[in-house]
Amino acid sequence: MLVHWLGPTDLNSAGFVHGGVIMKLCDQVAGLAGVRHSAGRVVTAAMDRMTFNEPIEIGELLTLRAAVNAAWHTSMEVGVRVEAERPAVGTVRHTNSAYLTMVAVDADGRPREVPPLEIESDVERRRERAAQVRRRNRLAEREEIVGG
Ligand SMILES: CC(C)(COP(=O)(O)OP(=O)(O)OC[C@H]1O[C@@H](n2cnc3c(N)ncnc32)[C@H](O)[C@@H]1OP(=O)(O)O)[C@@H](O)C(=O)NCCC(=O)NCCS
Repeated sequence: MLVHWLGPTDLNSAGFVHGGVIMKLCDQVAGLAGVRHSAGRVVTAAMDRMTFNEPIEIGELLTLRAAVNAAWHTSMEVGVRVEAERPAVGTVRHTNSAYLTMVAVDADGRPREVPPLEIESDVERRRERAAQVRRRNRLAEREEIVGG
């Protein structure tokens, strides 16, 4: 979990919170989840999806939660949920979701094996199934583009 208060340095030139700030935080928290699962260094191979459900304002408190949804040979899909709280009001909104592919690497940057994911709950089973669908779609898309 990562908590970040949005201050003046997080704004774009129009005075709104910069989307790239949220993406960077998603990348950081996904990296932490990948490091924890694989017990070592990881790199971001892809940010597969990022949604911006609602605008976020300066002064809001962001909480980012990340979970490894699936683990393959050397890569993992990490899902990130972002919630924003207006501290003065106390309301919490689900503002963003993201899926990132993190690859575990050794000291030379070469992909290394990751441990299998231990799935215990129905929610984890559902997330793993969904991650498998996204991976199949990614590979099918790549196959079609490269093969075509
Ligand atoms: C990610 C990286 C290590 C993959 O290296 P590679 O030589 O393509 O390795 P492989 O082809 O053996 O693929 C390794 C794994 O990465 C996955 N992968 C590679 N490119 C991918 C992509 N674009 N999207 C999703 N997954 C990808 C493969 O599916 C494979 O997963 P698996 O072992 O679980 O089946 C390499 O491309 C890299 O170092 N990229 C730069 C990463 C980086 O600098 N990130 C930003 C800063 S952290």
